[in-house]
Amino acid sequence: MQTQHVPVMLEEVLKYLQPKAGGSYVDGTVGGGGHTEAILERTAPDGKVLGIDSDSQALARVRERLAQPVSDGRLVLVHGNFAELARIVHEAGFVSIQGVLLDLGFSSDQMGDPQRGFSFSVDGPLDMRLDQSQALSAADLVNSASEQELADIFWRYGEESRSRQIARRIVRERAKGAITRTAQLAGLAAAGVPYRARAIHPATKTFQALRIAVNHELEGLEAVLPQILDVLSSGRIDDVGSAGNAGDGDREVGGRMVIITFHSLEDRLVKEFMRREASDCICPPHTPVCICGHKARLRVLTRKPVIPTAQEVIANPRARSAKLRAAEIVVGS
Ligand SMILES: C[S@@+](CC[C@H](N)C(=O)[O-])C[C@H]1O[C@@H](n2cnc3c(N)ncnc32)[C@H](O)[C@@H]1O
Repeated sequence: MQTQHVPVMLEEVLKYLQPKAGGSYVDGTVGGGGHTEAILERTAPDGKVLGIDSDSQALARVRERLAQPVSDGRLVLVHGNFAELARIVHEAGFVSIQGVLLDLGFSSDQMGDPQRGFSFSVDGPLDMRLDQSQALSAADLVNSASEQELADIFWRYGEESRSRQIARRIVRERAKGAITRTAQLAGLAAAGVPYRARAIHPATKTFQALRIAVNHELEGLEAVLPQILDVLSSGRIDDVGSAGNAGDGDREVGGRMVIITFHSLEDRLVKEFMRREASDCICPPHTPVCICGHKARLRVLTRKPVIPTAQEVIANPRARSAKLRAAEIVVGS
């Protein structure tokens, strides 16, 4: 089974993750498997990847596409939510992990399948669940939340300035019958926006907000960040070597985390988490003497977020809002 998804910032991911032969890595958002495949190549012949995704269709596609590393035991695929990273890593028997990658959001395979309900430009059922075993769909939310709750979702997760208007229109419309199709919602979100003001599709923010709410995306990200620190090895030998032997010029370095986000709400969570964990004191400003006892566990590798090159954005417009941040565990922390 082919994937339509082109991995975003592949070179940059490899540069910051630095996968080494013989190492163990976690791809918490395996998706189409593009990043995973590249990590497997770099860690050959005996490096391992634990690939997690909440979408069982994505996993089935990767299982078929990367059948060889799966049968060699080099790629272990798990259906699950990265919010439960520590448990999944433990149950999969992965220890001493050298790197964790998260490439957040949804893939082109999910977006391109109208039946998944992510697209405002092609009609389909109003679904938007990344994990299809989850009960709540976007239609359930749109048809059951109060007008105030809907407005809050559009405002908080979409930063949509017309949040109240759109929520009011939805509530009026659903009184006539349930809203079940993406085209219905896109029409309600776009209504009243003059054509000349449409720099982006006027339903973009409404769809983003609903997707985030349906999949509890920010809660999942907040839950996984501290777990990444717990599962990452706090001291690996650089240049592991295929037999795990240290090579020339070795130095002890900590495991690495690389996270790609696609909107400011996610990026802010990652930035603040890394800043806090890279700091030796998190006392409130102007506290005369440190009383928190906090110790830095991370070293931030990207002072500013890394963004895709202009060429990449032309070749893959999906990459345009991507931001990559990376950090390394402080050895011995
Ligand atoms: C942008 S795609 C990843 C693409 C992948 N890096 C590649 O190269 O093909 C994001 C993937 O993460 C999955 N995902 C999103 N949130 C998740 C979560 N909380 N737990 C597990 N998987 C998640 C989605 O189902 C989707 O397949």
